[in-house]
Amino acid sequence: MLDKKLIIPEHVAIIMDGNGRWAKKRGLPRSIGHKYGAQNFRKITRYISRAGVKYLTLYAFSTENWKRPPEEVDALMKLFHQNLVDLITDFRDDDIKTIFIGDRSAFSPGLIKLINESEEIAKDRKGMVLNIAMNYGSRDEILKAVKELCEESRDGKIDPKDITEQDIAFRLYTGGMPDPDLIIRTGGEFRLSNFLLYQSAYSEFYSTETLWPDFNEAEFDKAVIEFNHRNRRFGGV
Ligand code: FPP
Repeated sequence: MLDKKLIIPEHVAIIMDGNGRWAKKRGLPRSIGHKYGAQNFRKITRYISRAGVKYLTLYAFSTENWKRPPEEVDALMKLFHQNLVDLITDFRDDDIKTIFIGDRSAFSPGLIKLINESEEIAKDRKGMVLNIAMNYGSRDEILKAVKELCEESRDGKIDPKDITEQDIAFRLYTGGMPDPDLIIRTGGEFRLSNFLLYQSAYSEFYSTETLWPDFNEAEFDKAVIEFNHRNRRFGGV
């Protein structure tokens, strides 16, 4: 349990890496690692919401993950399907509002229907906002915002010389939400992998060797404690 004196980051984002290695270490197929990863995603989301975080963004599937072997992509799609069915009621008690960020049009019609339904059911919830990034890529997201601005300019709705940083931020999937304060990456790597590139300008980055299925409540607490030791200057002195 976190000390009440600690500052709780308003927006936490997590790159859930290491499912494959977790499975390999146990002599299991990678898809089993994803299955345990999905279970952990549901448990940790509730814990983070109860800790007082207002926005949680989780990287579940990137625009580059389609390059994985077809069996693995298939297993992930099945896993998303199963988990979304449960999510529709799962986060109700914690009043968690689920939103999907990314280009959902690439998924199967059945999965798109589930994504839309889970958003619709949770739309009036007042608790933590949970952004699930699926078929999400930050460059793709920025490109989408640029195209929208170009079209608005062509239609005479906006003058290019008046475009502000906020105009771009507003057209990202996270438009209207605060930027992430803390980005956690499990699995030991130190890179963003096309995740929240525009939004992370002043985010604190925390990397842990722990593989995602093993990332537990105590590990989250450690990240928040480390966050409290950082001196955030936002470019000032
Ligand atoms: C990265 O580990 C993990 C993924 C690409 C999938 C993450 C998905 C989940 C945790 C399931 C979430 C479920 C829902 C419903 C949102 P990796 O496979 O790259 O691991 P490795 O680096 O050890 O190979």
